[in-house]
Amino acid sequence: MPVPTARMMSLNGRIVPYDQCQLHAFSGVVKYGAAVFEGLRGYWNHDHGEMYVFRLAEHLERLRFGMRVMRLEPVFEAGFMADSLLGMIRANALRETVHLRMIAYLDGDDELAATGPVGLVCGAVPRPRGRAVSEGVHVAVATYARLADNAMPPRVKATGNYINSRAAELEAKRNGYQGVLMLTARGKVSEGSGACFFMVRNGALHTPDIASDILESITRDSVIELAREQGIVVHERTIDRHEVHAADEAFWCGSGYEIQPILSLDRLAVGNGMPGEITRAIQRAYFDVVEGRSNAHAAWRTPVWAGA
Ligand SMILES: Cc1ncc(COP(=O)(O)O)c(C=O)c1O
Repeated sequence: MPVPTARMMSLNGRIVPYDQCQLHAFSGVVKYGAAVFEGLRGYWNHDHGEMYVFRLAEHLERLRFGMRVMRLEPVFEAGFMADSLLGMIRANALRETVHLRMIAYLDGDDELAATGPVGLVCGAVPRPRGRAVSEGVHVAVATYARLADNAMPPRVKATGNYINSRAAELEAKRNGYQGVLMLTARGKVSEGSGACFFMVRNGALHTPDIASDILESITRDSVIELAREQGIVVHERTIDRHEVHAADEAFWCGSGYEIQPILSLDRLAVGNGMPGEITRAIQRAYFDVVEGRSNAHAAWRTPVWAGA
């Protein structure tokens, strides 16, 4: 079933109808998967009559970093990328919570080592908070290893990386789970197919460190900061697969996933098998900030309409 994408998109800074946002079938992104993706959220705050894009500057910085590592020509200024995204939201008159998507891609019809021309596409998918945020999810460990940094760069949101995530997620869904946790090639906990992992032990948060073949997630960074503000100790470290079974609580997080409690791993309950207290406290702090219900971290929110 196709996702309900907003009617207008942005293609190289031009607003175009969804069905005219087209690339050539022989472009570098199609032939070689040479592209960098960004997924952000725009949160609609009804009381303010405003949409807040969460951590826009950090997402654009990661996109530019990813383009550099992928050796795509750095043709777009941050201002142009921001205007393309915000212009697309305004062209759609979006007044609801959305998942925002940006892709910097290799265009043209050259061979494998081409670095340009580079294109930029932005679009939006209306997406309210999912049930998994309140109810939690049952998760399996993948038989697929997370891609290793010396093979492909997991800290870059390269579209090609999602071949690995997709295989793992398909496997878990075939087996009746709602999500998948991948291990590194060395067998340590890495991350989900689109989210970073946290667990609670004895009141502290533990999450795989950034050398555990994870995406350097902006939500993970936000969770660490919000947790520390609440006096919760956070450890970034190597985590064994079986240590998760000793956790009192677990959750995973990402721009798209937001914060979802993990209820079980490989059919063994995590803690008492219910969303935990610390998970709920982190969720409350997170949603207050992203939706602009708290004044805290105002710099993390870019208002779409006030800036129009
Ligand atoms: C593989 C992977 N890990 C983690 C995340 C979470 O990253 P972020 O919080 O920046 O959205 C994502 C989401 O895009 C992802 O695809």
